[in-house]
Amino acid sequence: MRLVVALACFIAGCLAQKPHPCKSPPLMGGALVLSTQNEKLLVYVRYLYDAIGQRIRLWEQGSYDNKTFTADYLLHYRESAVYNISDSKKTCEKLPLKADFQPLGIPPDASLVGQVVLGSSSGPGQGLLTNIWTGDLPEKAGKFLSTVTEFGCIPVSTAYQTKEYGWVQITFFNNIVGISDPSLLNPPNFCPHAESLQSQRAGVKPHDFLSLFL
Ligand SMILES: *[C@@H]1O[C@H](CO)[C@@H](O)[C@H](O)[C@H]1NC(C)=O
Ligand SMILES: *[C@@H]1O[C@H](CO)[C@@H](O)[C@H](O)[C@H]1NC(C)=O
Repeated sequence: MRLVVALACFIAGCLAQKPHPCKSPPLMGGALVLSTQNEKLLVYVRYLYDAIGQRIRLWEQGSYDNKTFTADYLLHYRESAVYNISDSKKTCEKLPLKADFQPLGIPPDASLVGQVVLGSSSGPGQGLLTNIWTGDLPEKAGKFLSTVTEFGCIPVSTAYQTKEYGWVQITFFNNIVGISDPSLLNPPNFCPHAESLQSQRAGVKPHDFLSLFL
């Protein structure tokens, strides 16, 4: 009898739960590497992510068209602003941000590609259980393919299509849930205030997330 129950359970999948689209933790920090299919851009980024306040900080080190660069951006989606910060020079420029906030995780209308173990399942600590999802980008801009951990919905990697760069590949690592120094998500005191954006706005090209890496 026990065996029958266990068998029925196994067939019904009560041991392995079906993966569901998920939201990543609202406060996270970590690092990522972004590269583009057209080989123009390769960038290492330390990031802070706050889905509650819709704020992201990016410290970038990379190369574009074989030229190296460093950059430090603070994105405030609610006020549609990007702060272009230089801590060493104590300069800060406030620019318009045209992109909408996209929370990390898997949107509800995505389709499951499969559940896979990254690494190996042969020994403890050798593997990571992940779910791979695909779907359409907002405004039918192309497809995405995203991998998150089964436990915690932590981003592992994402790839998405762009017109200008081909596939953009992002790999996340060393993620930490929570933010130890939230003040890094506020503009430094040498940044301009809200009013000055209005006066600067005319003639400034708006930026979206990807163009900040360039
Ligand atoms: C970058 O450098 C490589 C090797 O030196 C060269 O083959 C390639 O054409 C360069 N790319 C650009 C965009 O300048
Ligand atoms: C940010 O400022 C630096 C100079 O401090 C400049 O080279 C770079 O183009 C600026 N980035 C944007 C997106 O305007």
